[in-house]
Amino acid sequence: MIIKSLKLKNFRNYDLLNLNFNHATNIFYGDNAQGKTNILESIYVSGTTKSHRGTKDKDMILFGEEEAHIETIVEKKGVPFRIDMHLKKNSPKGIAINKVPIKRASELFGIIHLVFFSPEDLNIIKNGPSERRRFMDLELSQLDKIYLCDLANYNRVLNQRNRLLKEISFRPDLADTLEIWDMQAAEYGEKVEKRRKRFVEELNEIIQGIHKKLTGGREEILLSYESGKSGENLLEALTKNRERDIRQKSTSVGPHRDDICFWTNGLDIRKFGSQGQQRTAALSLKLSQIRLIESVIGDTPILLLDDVLSELDKNRQNYLLDSIHDIQTLITCTGLDEFVDHRFSINKIFQIKDGRVIKEN
Ligand SMILES: Nc1ncnc2c1ncn2[C@@H]1O[C@H](COP(=O)(O)OP(=O)(O)OP(=O)(O)O)[C@@H](O)[C@H]1O
Ligand SMILES: [Mg+2]
Repeated sequence: MIIKSLKLKNFRNYDLLNLNFNHATNIFYGDNAQGKTNILESIYVSGTTKSHRGTKDKDMILFGEEEAHIETIVEKKGVPFRIDMHLKKNSPKGIAINKVPIKRASELFGIIHLVFFSPEDLNIIKNGPSERRRFMDLELSQLDKIYLCDLANYNRVLNQRNRLLKEISFRPDLADTLEIWDMQAAEYGEKVEKRRKRFVEELNEIIQGIHKKLTGGREEILLSYESGKSGENLLEALTKNRERDIRQKSTSVGPHRDDICFWTNGLDIRKFGSQGQQRTAALSLKLSQIRLIESVIGDTPILLLDDVLSELDKNRQNYLLDSIHDIQTLITCTGLDEFVDHRFSINKIFQIKDGRVIKEN
């Protein structure tokens, strides 16, 4: 799949922008704070409805304006789709696909597949479990509509259960009503966990070969899904932990507490890996994500590389650039040095300055 064009109006520091992309590699370069990431962000928003930075709609509108507009045209297996998104200050965004307004953001599901890769992603193994859960949830929500729905239901039930746990400390008689939430939490939670486990298995099949090549055969990697339960099903685990949950006023077991464990050569590198090992494994994970999407949708995703090259040493830079030549890639960087020694061909370069493209070739 490729993105053909992007038009922005009043998005971040762009009053008006009109870009046509090459089907292969596109570079955006310029000094800091000129608007390079903003371009990738607008594409991410139009594919997923949300900013990768977690910014609210109103904060992505050009200061002093009421509304921002993003228009993207993507092509999937030769078929064009136009997505229009209007971000508003005080009301929900408006979205249209091929000029037909949609009511629910979830209708956008499955139209654009993106992989966003930023320097923070290189810390996914070093950082806490919530980021790894976020990775699973974001990825699976893009790939599997049923997962999206099960996860939303699980989170809703979990919130209600947690609210009830807080109320029970004032009104112990409400403890009897926990059972109904336990049953629902178990129903959706088991589904979420099952799909995540399958996702980890799918990743395992891909990541092993990638990681071996990336480390010159020195490291073997294995991912495993880590659940806080010990063997029993979720309903049993919730029941077993009920007293503790009432005391702590929060739910202590379930997929909202689970994690992915990364083993290399038999070592849990979340805890014992060197910084370099953790970052290399994170790069392998990201490259696996691309291939997994490809195998599920039968098409390549669009890769958005935000400032990642400068974070990698020459070997890893080369490996990354070599691995992505069959994918449309949008790369931001502050200079073009990274590409000088590389046989990698750049197809289009945009120089960005102060919310404008000042050079395009
Ligand atoms: N809502 C907004 N309205 C106007 N300008 C904004 C808005 N939000 C952010 N900006 C401006 O956008 C600029 C940052 O853009 P961006 O993050 O794309 O920079 P960048 O070129 O990627 O820089 P770096 O190389 O440091 O990553 C900042 O100067 C900021 O003031
Ligand atoms: Mg940036």
